Amino acid sequence: MASKAISKAWYKEMCVYQIWCRSFKDGNGDGIGDLAGVREKLPYIKSLGVDAIWFSPLYKSPQADYGYDISDYRDINPEYGTLEEFRQLLDEAHSMGLKVIMDLVVNHTSDQHEWFLESRKGADNPYHDYYFWRKGRAPGKAPNNWLSTFAGPGWSYDEDLDEWFLHIFTPQQPDLNHDNPKVREEVKDIMRYWLDMGVDGFREDVITYISKKDGLPNGFPIPVACGMEHYDFGPNLEKYLTEYRREVLDNYDCVTIGEAPMITPKKALRLIGEGPDKLLDMVIPFDHMSCDGFLINWIPVKFNLKKLKKCYANWQKTLYGKGWNMLYIENHDQPRIVSRYGSELYRAESAKMLAAAYMLQSGTAFVYQGQEIGMTNLHLQSLDEYVDFQTISTTALMKRLLHLSDKTLVKIASKASRDNSRSPVQWTGGKNAGFTTADDAWFRVNPNYPEINVEKDEKDPDSVLNFYKKLIAFRKDNPLVIYGDYKEHYRSNKRMFCYERRYGDERLLVVCSFSDIPVRFNAPEGFDLSDGECVLNNYPDPIIIENGFALKPYETRVYRFRA
Ligand code: GLC
Ligand code: CA
Repeated sequence: MASKAISKAWYKEMCVYQIWCRSFKDGNGDGIGDLAGVREKLPYIKSLGVDAIWFSPLYKSPQADYGYDISDYRDINPEYGTLEEFRQLLDEAHSMGLKVIMDLVVNHTSDQHEWFLESRKGADNPYHDYYFWRKGRAPGKAPNNWLSTFAGPGWSYDEDLDEWFLHIFTPQQPDLNHDNPKVREEVKDIMRYWLDMGVDGFREDVITYISKKDGLPNGFPIPVACGMEHYDFGPNLEKYLTEYRREVLDNYDCVTIGEAPMITPKKALRLIGEGPDKLLDMVIPFDHMSCDGFLINWIPVKFNLKKLKKCYANWQKTLYGKGWNMLYIENHDQPRIVSRYGSELYRAESAKMLAAAYMLQSGTAFVYQGQEIGMTNLHLQSLDEYVDFQTISTTALMKRLLHLSDKTLVKIASKASRDNSRSPVQWTGGKNAGFTTADDAWFRVNPNYPEINVEKDEKDPDSVLNFYKKLIAFRKDNPLVIYGDYKEHYRSNKRMFCYERRYGDERLLVVCSFSDIPVRFNAPEGFDLSDGECVLNNYPDPIIIENGFALKPYETRVYRFRA
């Protein structure tokens, strides 16, 4: 069978491991994850079979948004280590064959960045126009009605200046004005600084927000997407991205992955369409992460498999041969997937099934720290224990507007909060899960660590961790997984996900149950299971009757067929 020609590239074949440093591993015993901890765990990361590390921001930052508020783009957060240590880490990673991708957060800075401190000094300060400073519409009234995606207004008032500044995220994250050519020069310099040091690319934070509508007009009076619609995909986005690509990125062999809330595959092709005008290598999609909720999942609903399958098919089909997919099911902004699309009761089974379901699609695969051992949500029992700004502000707003009780809010936060995935990585069954030798970790360790930890999984050939290793190795050894096309079967089935990949004369059939009750699976037309080789599974072999079998709770089986 012929496959459409598809161009090959190193970044397409990667599996990337994401590190959120604060909770990865504490190397110096102060309770906070750091670069020493990462260096200690490089052999572990390598043992997963991954090709690259993406670091969530490691830069100097007051940590109002855990590093996404940067006060110095050219230095490392002292809690994590020094620049010198980062250079060593970079060398070590490279010598082990691991690439290093940095987070580039240039939609906004910290309010402690010297540019912002300068800009506050007055309209004639050269840095004033680095940000969006505006007069109010009337006393006490912000310049427009834009909202922060983190609940609340998008503007804060400065009394001394009698002006407001725009912040799409926390009030400690003022938005940078990319319309100012000086700001764009700064961005290019930051990129060059890290690329010259040897980093292999960037994950670009909310990059689709960097261009704001001319004149900052009022948006819809009612938030349609938590305010995002007010500043998404602005008029000069492509112009600025072209500038960054032509003047900087094109001069390096690097990869770029743009975070793009609300993006659709069709719109994505404007940024990642292959050809001379390509602006980014991949975008980070969001729709597949909202199959169990609305409004950034703060209105939780029952998980809807059909919705998930629709998202997957849309991305796989629209991009095939035209752009490249970025595959993920967890990151530092998403609660743990087992607790969402899987089942804590069938934890190991569902963790493995979910891994097969997304990682065998076409694209570059990302794995978030702890995902590979099937870590679960933290389920904090009191609102006071949450530390994430988005959680604190969103629960406060819901309380005010909807008069919800604390009990209800705790229930919602225990599903929706980003803190669920920010608890320390569970390395061992020992004190603090082996994360730190300090009395206390900076943030609560999930009490299930004696059951769920790396040490335990390493010893068990059937563990979630060993399944991930097999899966990552399988992807690497089989161009079919990377470059094959995608065809879905049984689209309307609400409990089962089944798809086929094709490349040359090879085919792969991926079967996944998203159900806790048995589901009958019949091989689709053209597949004879007795000809297939089962290459991955999370249960012992089933009894095959009439070219099919009963899938057990969260079972996955992957068959390879060779012509
Ligand atoms: C991105 C980051 C998130 C951060 C936000 C503001 O969505 O992934 O963690 O809070 O941008 O920088
Ligand atoms: Ca530390």
